[in-house]
Amino acid sequence: MMTIAMDGPAGAGKSTAAKLAAKALGIHYVDTGAMYRAIAYGILTAAPADDAVEACVRDLDVRVDYIEDEQHVYVNGEDVMGVIRTPEVSAAASRYAALPVVREKLLGVQRTIAEQFDVVMDGRDIGTVVLPHAETKIFITADPAERARRRALELEQRTGEKQDVDAIEKEIRERDYRDSHREIAPLKQADDAVLLDTTHMSIEEVVAEVCRLARANHA
Ligand code: DC
Repeated sequence: MMTIAMDGPAGAGKSTAAKLAAKALGIHYVDTGAMYRAIAYGILTAAPADDAVEACVRDLDVRVDYIEDEQHVYVNGEDVMGVIRTPEVSAAASRYAALPVVREKLLGVQRTIAEQFDVVMDGRDIGTVVLPHAETKIFITADPAERARRRALELEQRTGEKQDVDAIEKEIRERDYRDSHREIAPLKQADDAVLLDTTHMSIEEVVAEVCRLARANHA
């Protein structure tokens, strides 16, 4: 199997690069962040008491499907792709991703997908925990100020509204801290991952490098 694990902090261009690389290589793009967001959305919607969160997670029916090369995540039958990109869900996803019950629920889902398909899977713990034997491991990062600038640009293009770059950088730094300091499966570079600092790279250069590494390792 061709298996590419791509980890790194928010806003480093991971998902854009992974999506384009998957297309160029003719394999599946698997967005694990969307799965954590979907669970967070499910918890926010059910609004359980603090001591009932674990039971709520166990009860959530989370399914992933690929339709015309697009990943869809369903929570209790609802396709949640259109509602999981809000700041509220982003913050909740980062918080709930620290719960063992949430990570356990998704680990099997993610490993099964990688057994079924050739994949570029992006996340925080793919090269370290989910797919420790992945053929290619890439840790994509960029300077936080540059990541905030890119995120602001993307939001401005999507919403047509001017964004506060400093506020976005603060939010990115907070998420980085939480994702990297949690006890379970923290964001970190796997020992055998290639470090790709994209601060001064164009997206085309990043995609070309991901494809080059993947093809070299698969040969
Ligand atoms: O990549 P993203 O921003 O969509 O991810 C949302 C949150 O989910 C992120 O703050 C951390 C968490 N996450 C994780 O803990 N492990 C993953 N493999 C992917 C995402």
